[in-house]
Amino acid sequence: MSPNGIVYSDAFKSWKVISMSTLYDKSMRVIYGNDIAVKAIGDEQFQPWPDGAVVVKAVWEQIENQYGEVRPGKFINAQFMVKDAAKYKDTEGWGFAKFNGDNLTPTGKNAQFAVTSCISCHRQLAKPTGFLFNVPLALNPAK
Ligand code: HEC
Repeated sequence: MSPNGIVYSDAFKSWKVISMSTLYDKSMRVIYGNDIAVKAIGDEQFQPWPDGAVVVKAVWEQIENQYGEVRPGKFINAQFMVKDAAKYKDTEGWGFAKFNGDNLTPTGKNAQFAVTSCISCHRQLAKPTGFLFNVPLALNPAK
């Protein structure tokens, strides 16, 4: 359980994939949305996102074989964003959680971690899309 009460669940493994990304640190990520999040994307409802929307980003090491085929390697972490406007007032209505490694060790000593380590950056760079980056490019003014 994350210090702000968000509990890890692997239900996201059967959700729709809404995006994927990779980074200079050679990690690869798949971003999943629950039904409420997927519907919000279809309806272009990002200001604000509806309560109950949940988006999970799962991150793996990126491995490449001798033929240049790139695949996910070791699991690194799973990051959650859970929309509940009343519950997560300090972080724009999004509850953040991060579970690391095979033991799913939660990030943060107390609930304050989401204010200092998560929303700070999402607030700065993803405000036009309701503080969530991975919306379809055509709908993203910050592309
Ligand atoms: C330095 C900036 C930065 C910080 C700090 C940050 N994020 Fe993000 N986050 C991003 C960017 C950029 C993306 C989109 C790229 C991607 O998905 O790989 C993203 C994507 C996400 C996503 C997928 C949904 C979306 O917004 O597209 C989740 C979930 C997420 N972050 C959770 C967290 C959590 C939890 C924390 C704190 C432990 C955190 N983030 C801290 C920059 C940041």
